[in-house]
Amino acid sequence: MGHGGNVIQELTTDHREVDELFSQIEALPGADGQRRALADRLTMELIRHSVAEEEYLYPAVRRYVDGGDDLADKEIADHGEVERMLKELEDCRPGDGRFDTLILRLKNSVTAHVSDEENRLFPMLADVCSADALGTTGQPCGARRHPA
Ligand SMILES: [Fe+2]
Repeated sequence: MGHGGNVIQELTTDHREVDELFSQIEALPGADGQRRALADRLTMELIRHSVAEEEYLYPAVRRYVDGGDDLADKEIADHGEVERMLKELEDCRPGDGRFDTLILRLKNSVTAHVSDEENRLFPMLADVCSADALGTTGQPCGARRHPA
């Protein structure tokens, strides 16, 4: 976050950073110690991203998007699943089969999250909130372009 655009732009930039971290982990040989440091960065980025979404994105989705409560509830449940995997990853070392399994499961889950948000949730929100109203992460969506 803090990339200077509106909430959707900032969260999309986070997504690209996380994609890049997965690519860097996958590009290194299995037991390379750098993969542990990259997994720690990935963990920090994903937790920070989840917190930002729960603080700025989902309240706006609940408030402005039709069916937003169900959409936000599903996203938050997915965050819980990712957090459980990250907790498990914390104790794994590169070279352990479990490390690779967890990275792959995390990548599948995060890829589905990114696709769902960028192809469905963000366009739905952008449709009911003007770019100005979306604001930055310090200024949550505050106006509805179309009446309910
Ligand atoms: Fe996201």
